[in-house]
Amino acid sequence: MKENANPYKPEIATVEDTWYETYGDRCIKTFKVVLDDEKARESWGHRPGQCAMIGLLGVGESMISISCSPTEGKFLRFSVMRMGKVTQALHELEPGDKMTVRGPYGNSFPVDDWKGKNILTIGGGIGQAPLRPIIEYVKANRGDYGNLTLIYGSRTSGDLCFKSEFEGLNECSDINCHLSIDVREEGWPHYVGFVPSLLMEVNPSPENTIAITCGPPIMIRFVLENLKKLNFADEQIYTTLENRMKCGFGKCGRCNVGSLYVCKDGPVFSYATLKNVPEAFA
Ligand SMILES: Cc1cc2nc3c(=O)[nH]c(=O)nc-3n(C[C@H](O)[C@H](O)[C@H](O)COP(=O)(O)OP(=O)(O)OC[C@H]3O[C@@H](n4cnc5c(N)ncnc54)[C@H](O)[C@@H]3O)c2cc1C
Ligand code: FES
Repeated sequence: MKENANPYKPEIATVEDTWYETYGDRCIKTFKVVLDDEKARESWGHRPGQCAMIGLLGVGESMISISCSPTEGKFLRFSVMRMGKVTQALHELEPGDKMTVRGPYGNSFPVDDWKGKNILTIGGGIGQAPLRPIIEYVKANRGDYGNLTLIYGSRTSGDLCFKSEFEGLNECSDINCHLSIDVREEGWPHYVGFVPSLLMEVNPSPENTIAITCGPPIMIRFVLENLKKLNFADEQIYTTLENRMKCGFGKCGRCNVGSLYVCKDGPVFSYATLKNVPEAFA
């Protein structure tokens, strides 16, 4: 995978497609975008877990996970929750509109080191965005990995992202997908309860398995506790931190947890690193 020639320079990108993942106040909209400059497009290289600063000239920028795998093509995907000034403005964009993209930033999931292993992803809400590239990467390189198990939950069925992509996954003998919602809904055929409880119900074996969890900090805290109960070693567990950022490259000091810069040292961390940083899940 190539690196972007100049990750600090914003590139202009055209929105090719948009769609809503979820609706409501804090709805999530996915943008499929293509960098306008051919040279920048060709030299762009991201790895699963990396993010980019996306924005609008005159409005601002936000750090957003790149929610596609490089194996999917010469485009980028961002799934953005409508929160404040920047993300509200981004939500106004439709196909043909322009945004700025700089990056890719941060480290990434060490997917090459995980070859030969079973992969277990445990996501909650918008936390599925950084997990999606791992899932797509593993699907595109199926022979290199063992079983793929997805555990994903949200508050209601309407809050689940990438819903259509889970359909039919369980038809593959080496992929297992487990979905949950917090409160019972008429016609919901899957688990009802919190993601950490579903993890215990699925009861995955730690043998030769890497577990990656992303989601709200409270969910991550209980998932980590439960992974330890299931005898996963610290080195088998990965997560991401999403502290607020400004510069994105280790200069402004906005994103620190303990002595770590989330933008420079993360956003991907092994539990072996984070367990010694009490501020990480505060
Ligand atoms: C590494 C990383 C990856 C991220 N990936 C995604 C993603 O894939 N999709 C997505 O929708 N968002 C993601 N975020 C969060 C996103 O950057 C913020 O929601 C966004 O910058 C808010 O900007 P705004 O101007 O719209 O809101 P603001 O006006 O800045 O803030 C609106 C509200 O959101 C809160 N907020 C802002 N940033 C954060 C944050 N980082 N964590 C928690 N609360 C925050 C503020 O406290 C405030 O209450 C990521 C953040 C990081 C650091
Ligand atoms: S965002 Fe500036 S140091 Fe991390």
